Amino acid sequence: MPTRAAVYEAGADLEPFQVLAGEHALLRLQLTRALDAARANPLGSTARRALAALYDGFRLHQRREDLVLVPACERLFGGRDGAASVLRDEHAAIRRAFTAALAKPVGLGSLSVPALHELHGLLEAHFVREERVLFPMMTAHLARREAADLARRLRATRLA
Ligand SMILES: [Fe+2]
Ligand SMILES: [Fe+2]
Repeated sequence: MPTRAAVYEAGADLEPFQVLAGEHALLRLQLTRALDAARANPLGSTARRALAALYDGFRLHQRREDLVLVPACERLFGGRDGAASVLRDEHAAIRRAFTAALAKPVGLGSLSVPALHELHGLLEAHFVREERVLFPMMTAHLARREAADLARRLRATRLA
């Protein structure tokens, strides 16, 4: 499995939306691992570790989008409503689904497979909407220099 650092190393010359789609691919893989491990043994540490790794990756991805993508979306498509507001609402719903899935401390108790399924449904629908609608729409509206700046700022954003 590629590491997060490797994804960004490889993404040094990519367009901003290729960078984000690459992160989606990594997060999908991590969620599949967490689900498989939870189905095999919801009490096991493997499932907890897989979910914790997914959550770390998700927090960074969402922070990059919240700090860089959402403001760019507001600037391109106007105001705080519309596409940016859908993004913000979906991010909030996914955060709530993570909170439900992570309700028990790592290493204790059983992972909820239904909570992980709920998370999977929300994440997948959100990723598909970004990849098929939002990213192409933004690509069409961004000048080449703006796209390069967006990619640079996405990669520079780290967890607080
Ligand atoms: Fe997102
Ligand atoms: Fe995303």
